[in-house]
Amino acid sequence: MKHLQIDLSGATGSIPSDYFGRLQEIAKQSIDKLHEGKGAGNSFLGWLRLPSSVVEGELEEIETVAATLREQCEIVIVIGIGGSYLGARAVIEAISNSFDCMLAERKHPQIIYAGHNISEDYLLELVEFLKDKAFGLINISKSGTTTEPAIAFRILKKLLEEQAGKAVARNRIVAITDARRGALRNLADYEDYKSFVIPDNVGGRFSVLTPVGLLPIALAGVNIHELMNGARYMEKKSGRTVSLAENLAAQYAIARNYLYASGHKIEILANFHPKLHYLAEWWKQLYGESEGKENKGIFPAAVDLTTDLHSMGQWIQEGERSIFETVISVSAPNKRIAIPKDKDDFDGLNYLAGKRVDAVNKMAQLGTKLAHIDGGVPVIEISIPELTPYYVGELIYFFQKACGISGYMLGVNPFDQPGVEAYKKNMFALLNKPGFEAESEAIKARLQ
Ligand code: PA5
Repeated sequence: MKHLQIDLSGATGSIPSDYFGRLQEIAKQSIDKLHEGKGAGNSFLGWLRLPSSVVEGELEEIETVAATLREQCEIVIVIGIGGSYLGARAVIEAISNSFDCMLAERKHPQIIYAGHNISEDYLLELVEFLKDKAFGLINISKSGTTTEPAIAFRILKKLLEEQAGKAVARNRIVAITDARRGALRNLADYEDYKSFVIPDNVGGRFSVLTPVGLLPIALAGVNIHELMNGARYMEKKSGRTVSLAENLAAQYAIARNYLYASGHKIEILANFHPKLHYLAEWWKQLYGESEGKENKGIFPAAVDLTTDLHSMGQWIQEGERSIFETVISVSAPNKRIAIPKDKDDFDGLNYLAGKRVDAVNKMAQLGTKLAHIDGGVPVIEISIPELTPYYVGELIYFFQKACGISGYMLGVNPFDQPGVEAYKKNMFALLNKPGFEAESEAIKARLQ
């Protein structure tokens, strides 16, 4: 069976061997710190052994709840923000049909996301869309107090109760939150909602392999057993006793830190498949929130190719040389379509007649890689054999493990996010939230 591969030849070819040896040493120390739980943020290391520690019974319970929602709902709104929604969306979009929401023969409810913004238009349009529809809600928040999902849930819960009645609504709401603390836990217990627990030792951006990701993913008809199997494989293959030569996550972490130290401050995650757009969004959060602190950290950006070659391609090719690129390559597409021959050939495409579209995509990918390397952009290539739940599971664990190693190599705590509180404090002060009186006074004085 084939597995995820990494090709660093376009990125680290010139790395001096003594420097490389030093980076390897730091990587080893980082892996030890992770596995011994001796580094910063060590109370959030539950994700390390999640794939192997989750038992089939837990997955079956998730599938049972997904089946109940499927029976009752034509639409399910997944409410959450950041780590409480990006992982689910990344996997669902990577695996689902691109036109899933328009397919008449869909076997699962349509999934819509909410609570990841505070747009009044978005919420009102959603409320209007849901009128007279049988819908359910999966409300996800570890803290249970995040403003964006709390507002969305309050509005949608009211709508659901008005449309279906309180008893039916209760059966169509699932809460995923902390075991004991937080407003959502209290509400779930009070209303007697079906609920799942987000383990204490798993932070939001590392939670896709908990019910946070698994329930919406199962609901969308994706095989969560296969997803976990792929993640389990990668857990084993990046374990503590695996040599650095075999440990692909460590190699990626070393390459990133080398490139960062040599002035490449921006990493662009590139894909050649629109289904991977949200995987890149998930990756941006994972690396951005984990590493961007203490005035350090690679800025994680993303492009969808070839789409963005017609916009950002110019910048990547000839802009400031502070970037490197990490390409996610999918070796074989799941579907086949060839370019037809045309008798008039007005578009001059007959030279491609009979070729599969993916063959053209692959040449675009290779041509882009060579052009970017020639333009002074180091290119890392991560390949998976196919877009299946198994390989997406490998990819998820690979990126998580590399993130933990890379963050420790950089010398930061990859498992906290103190910076995300700053906007909240100002917003609460501006909204006169109880408990923020002093901040309210201060911000009003500042704005006068
Ligand atoms: O990674 C994180 O910790 C954050 O992105 C959180 O997931 C996000 O802020 C949502 O938090 P919560 O799940 O507490 O609502």
